[in-house]
Amino acid sequence: MSDTLSDQELVAAFENAGQGHVFRFLERLLPAEREVLFSAAREIDLGELSGLCQSLLPKEGAAHSGPALDISGLEPAPFIPLPENGGDAALWDKARRVGEEALRAGRVAAFVVAGGQGTRLGYEGPKGCYPATPVRGASLFQVFAEKLRAASARYGRSIPWLIMTSSLNDAATRKFFEDNAFFGLPREDVIFFQQGRMPAVDSQGRILLDAPGSIAMSPNGHGGSLRAVVTSGAARQLRGRGVDMISYWQVDNPLVQIIDPAFVGFHAMNASEMSSKMIPKAYALEKVGHFCVLNGRQTVIEYSDLPASLQEERNEAGELRFCAGSVAIHIFDLAFVERLGGTGAGRLPFHLAHKKIAYVDEGGAHVKPERPNGFKFEMFVFDALPFAERPVIIEGRRGDEFSPIKNAEGVDSPASCRRDQLRQWVRWARAACVALPVGEDGATPFNWEVSPLFADSAQAFVHKWNSLAERPQISEGRVLV
Ligand code: UD1
Repeated sequence: MSDTLSDQELVAAFENAGQGHVFRFLERLLPAEREVLFSAAREIDLGELSGLCQSLLPKEGAAHSGPALDISGLEPAPFIPLPENGGDAALWDKARRVGEEALRAGRVAAFVVAGGQGTRLGYEGPKGCYPATPVRGASLFQVFAEKLRAASARYGRSIPWLIMTSSLNDAATRKFFEDNAFFGLPREDVIFFQQGRMPAVDSQGRILLDAPGSIAMSPNGHGGSLRAVVTSGAARQLRGRGVDMISYWQVDNPLVQIIDPAFVGFHAMNASEMSSKMIPKAYALEKVGHFCVLNGRQTVIEYSDLPASLQEERNEAGELRFCAGSVAIHIFDLAFVERLGGTGAGRLPFHLAHKKIAYVDEGGAHVKPERPNGFKFEMFVFDALPFAERPVIIEGRRGDEFSPIKNAEGVDSPASCRRDQLRQWVRWARAACVALPVGEDGATPFNWEVSPLFADSAQAFVHKWNSLAERPQISEGRVLV
């Protein structure tokens, strides 16, 4: 970027790069508006942008799908199965012990990416503020905060929590935490930072303005998280606290085990640079990434890039061959993040998204296009996987790991997530020999709730329940906290 250039030099650099039109309304802008425009322009790496436009934008007359991925020789990635699916129970026990040790030593930080817009859900605010639980309507952020408080208490260490926001929701996210007294977490353990932005361009690679004084900038994808951890200084803070592992998840998934000792243990025992959890796909065409091996490296291929014939292919036993769904749960080695997030070799690739982007025309009039008219550039965090040495993939249980809130209705919606939370608590209650009425879907016919502060696993539930002097009736509206 162009931090060191004067305003005049900046304009000249844009002109040289064929992007001088960005400043065409400069004369009519107020000083404060000019400042905003110059500041956004300084975020843009013109060399990087021009390289991306040349390599990614469709050539005249071609379909708008970007260069096709060569997947010849693609194989399913190996993973460590759960004990109940043939995995080595002693190895899982050992991994858990190793992970617990690392947690007691304060080597693990938590990291949620929360810079997205929640467009599909149709929710206005930051997605992490969305009320997710059946009775309290606790927000996704509150659920995560309570899970962290439970883990901190268990391991006797505070666990730093990185929260990546974007320019679209940073202020609102910070305010939400302030308004809720950080959900009982020590303030110094919550580290907010913003991800980077990229300008949108038209089909000729010309930067679009969304107002006379405003470049159409948008978040650079969750892959921007690796850069942002480094450039924000968060990586340095973690080092100072003795952290060397980062447990990563997406804001839309309240079921996730933020701190899973067995996962931490497998990562540590293998000296892995990046570990991932796979969940067997629920059905062949489930819209998740697929863990694969391509050219000898582990990689995630998005459902949109994997031909349906491969997504549906079955082995002789009738099982899906590419069964390992990526649910965006990873552990990163801090040094790996520092390497990839820096400006050196091994940067994540950008992907192109063809979108409807509101813009101002030559005369300064606003245009709201009816069809996709421009391109956004995004990085995906799972593209780090092929760069990682000694990557490890372990199996997770869907019911204990994954029920995201993405769509307003149907699959991966608030309703399906509420049902999955109830199902999980029913299983925990059963483990403690509590009989509950249960419908065909495995959930109770009424809403109740277990706060992670009461229990965050079946084992913790049994322990807590048995230690209660008076056990409450579990019925409509009951909150165990
Ligand atoms: C994603 C994954 C998919 C995975 C699925 C699991 C992609 C392209 N695909 O799909 O492989 O199986 O989740 O649920 O990611 N975010 C940012 N900044 C951004 C963009 C996104 O922080 O610039 C965050 C969002 O806040 C959210 C997460 O990344 O927490 C996922 O983003 P989203 O675009 O919703 O991914 P999916 O298409 O659902």
